Amino acid sequence: MVINLSRKKNFEKTLYSDKDGIRFATPKIVAQYRAKRLKCKRLADISCGIGGQTIFFAKECDFVYAVEIDPKKIEYAKKNCELHDIDNVEFICGDALSPEVIEQIPKVDVVFSDPSRPAKENKRKVISLEPGIPKVISAYSDKTHNFAFEAPPQMPPKRIQFDCEREYLSLNGQLNRLTLYFGELKQCERSAISLPDGAHINSTDATGKNCGTYDITEVSQLRTYAYEPDPSLVKSDLLSQFVKSTENKMDDIKHVELFTIDKKRLLLTSDTILKNPMLKNNYLVMQVTEFKPEVINSTLKKHDVGKVVLRAGVDPADYWTIRNEIENGLSGKKTIHLFVKDRTAILCEII
Ligand SMILES: C[S@@+](CC[C@H](N)C(=O)[O-])C[C@H]1O[C@@H](n2cnc3c(N)ncnc32)[C@H](O)[C@@H]1O
Repeated sequence: MVINLSRKKNFEKTLYSDKDGIRFATPKIVAQYRAKRLKCKRLADISCGIGGQTIFFAKECDFVYAVEIDPKKIEYAKKNCELHDIDNVEFICGDALSPEVIEQIPKVDVVFSDPSRPAKENKRKVISLEPGIPKVISAYSDKTHNFAFEAPPQMPPKRIQFDCEREYLSLNGQLNRLTLYFGELKQCERSAISLPDGAHINSTDATGKNCGTYDITEVSQLRTYAYEPDPSLVKSDLLSQFVKSTENKMDDIKHVELFTIDKKRLLLTSDTILKNPMLKNNYLVMQVTEFKPEVINSTLKKHDVGKVVLRAGVDPADYWTIRNEIENGLSGKKTIHLFVKDRTAILCEII
């Protein structure tokens, strides 16, 4: 068998893989976090691919059963475990839903599956996952009640109609994973975690009581400072809980409000400086002006600006034309982020 050696960002060591396997493999930081959360004596990873996640399960758990339907991928998974000096994994090649595979797996503490999904789908759906979640739960119900599944993070909590925790995870400020936890693994209905720092929030308080929902005041004008919330907060519908907990923790923070730019972008805004790892970019709102490149350009010349990051829903074909017009002749030191709402330009300086 020909084995290609691919290197992927976020992996510490070189991994054996084909193009497809590395594309779907779990990044190291995520795999480490998830392995710590699912740490137990015996775990079955029933769609292990090239073993990106299996390696870290094996480091945390006493023993791991790794199942994979594709014979090529399971060979890569074996090689990758060898590369990481791992010897507590039993590899099983076959369909995780077939009786022959199921009977090779004894009672375990946790069954984990990171299923395949179609390369492209207009709207991500739970039923497109392979092996399917309900089938796995039913097939392995006499092995454990504790299941964890990876699902496409684009799916909002309401589209996941199971009794489980929906954990949205961001990596370096980008939405990266959604993990569903069942049985004793479920800690709440919804949660958000931002990696690598590990800041997190969930929909219940420490006593397990539901935190309820809070309304954030929506404003039509930004205050002195603007903040981009971590995408895991937005996707998990936990933005209002986050604002409430931030206000509760600090007496001097009274009002954190919501400013919607467009369907895809929103900012939190306040007259107080906030510091929180779940706020990925913090800005001083510099000026609000007409969205006309020549007007913006002359404003920026007065503010020592050299570079402008266009954060607007513009046609990608026009991006560089607009940006070059706005940046024409700028030679200052500052970098500005430019948001556009209803033909109004909002110029923000990173602080
Ligand atoms: C997203 S990848 C897993 C990636 C893996 N977690 C990693 O970090 O490397 C999904 C894998 O599920 C496997 N798969 C799909 N259906 C399966 C089934 N019925 N039984 C076992 N494996 C299956 C696919 O071949 C694919 O390699």
